[in-house]
Amino acid sequence: MVNSELSMWCYCIDFTTAKAGNGLYLLNFLTQNSLLNIHHKYMQRCLELAAKGAGNVAPNPLVGGVLVHGDRIIGEGWHQRYGEAHAEVNCINSVSEENKKLITSSTLYVSLEPCAHFGKTPPCADLIIKHKIPRVVIGCRDPFIEVNGKGIEKLQAAGVEVENGILEEECKVLNKRFFTFHTKQRPYIILKWAETADGKIAASQNSSARETLGSGHFKPEVEQRLFISNEYSNRLVHQWRSEEAAILIGTNTARLDNPELTTRLWPGKSPVRLVLDMNLRLPNSLKIFNGEVSTIIFNSVKQEEKENLLYYKLQKDNSVVSQLMNALYQLKIQSVLVEGGTKVLQSFIDEGLWDEARLIKNEDLIINSGLAAPTLSKAEKVSEQKIHSDKIEVYNPKNSRPATNE
Ligand SMILES: NC(=O)c1ccc[n+]([C@@H]2O[C@H](COP(=O)([O-])OP(=O)(O)OC[C@H]3O[C@@H](n4cnc5c(N)ncnc54)[C@H](OP(=O)(O)O)[C@@H]3O)[C@@H](O)[C@H]2O)c1
Repeated sequence: MVNSELSMWCYCIDFTTAKAGNGLYLLNFLTQNSLLNIHHKYMQRCLELAAKGAGNVAPNPLVGGVLVHGDRIIGEGWHQRYGEAHAEVNCINSVSEENKKLITSSTLYVSLEPCAHFGKTPPCADLIIKHKIPRVVIGCRDPFIEVNGKGIEKLQAAGVEVENGILEEECKVLNKRFFTFHTKQRPYIILKWAETADGKIAASQNSSARETLGSGHFKPEVEQRLFISNEYSNRLVHQWRSEEAAILIGTNTARLDNPELTTRLWPGKSPVRLVLDMNLRLPNSLKIFNGEVSTIIFNSVKQEEKENLLYYKLQKDNSVVSQLMNALYQLKIQSVLVEGGTKVLQSFIDEGLWDEARLIKNEDLIINSGLAAPTLSKAEKVSEQKIHSDKIEVYNPKNSRPATNE
């Protein structure tokens, strides 16, 4: 406990207990309250540290930890890269030689329950027990089936004092992708599109460019693409891409826009490209087939894998969206940025299978005729931001709560 905070609280307690009839009750209440403030402070630091791993740890969760002795942080760490050391290991290893003797009388704060199983690294619960850390304060329980309470049980069985649920909601929100994946058995779905001031997503509607040659392949020409968002928003979109495991587009978007779907405007890993092409009509000349990034073509014709390209077979007559959710769960893809076009986005909205929608509106651009943007229903706006001519609105499904393991 921070000494100055402690003395301030003692002063308050003396003052209030002297005045109140039920002094003991108040004393208890105030002491607990002050401890909670301290827990919040250190858990907040764990969250800041955990966030540093964003983009590098999936499919693992983001986790941060601090080791506190008295009112002093003697160790800090976070999970930095998938397959490498967990937050607890990095935190304990960061303690200086002269402070090592303090570990056995310190409190470990960690944003997610320590693991209890052998994965790519040994169990963190064992490490805590080995180092004789007497108290562990946890943000939230780990929903992963191999852990889910087993880490807490292991610590308690070894005599470690455990407190769970500090800044629980914040800890779950930080790992919204991980929680959604493990509790709903599907990836976290973010819908994203750019629309004009008059609600259009593309210039032409039912133009010849959208037509096909009967049941054969598409016409080879690519129509002029309408750029709606400005260069700053485009850069932001590339940052969004770097934060997700995969990007999904429909057949028409692949052919008409010929997108690369990479993060070339932002440092960070390009996500896996997911493309719907149920009848395998897309020409191999498109950029999505350039082999530079792992690409999955969802289709109803064949299951086949070559180097960076996977053809994943779905049933033609069943809901493509729910089949996709199952396939992506099997493929361990924890989050998807659905980038359009209207038909794909609308399918997710209509099936109620989305967690977040990000709309970029160019408020200066009116094109009168064009392809209408998707219609978002049962949604509530959670934020709004202006970037020059663009307004970025973020929506969540109405009455949604972060995925939980209870
Ligand atoms: N402004 C933006 O942010 C933005 C972003 C992306 C795209 N766009 C624009 O959007 C336009 C394309 O939109 P769009 O609505 O015409 O096409 P789309 O959604 O890109 O693709 C539609 C096609 O994908 C397949 N598909 C999509 N959803 C499906 C589902 N649920 N089940 C089965 N198949 C499904 C179908 O192909 P089959 O018919 O072969 O089965 C369908 O015809 C392009 O002009 C592009 O420029 C704009």
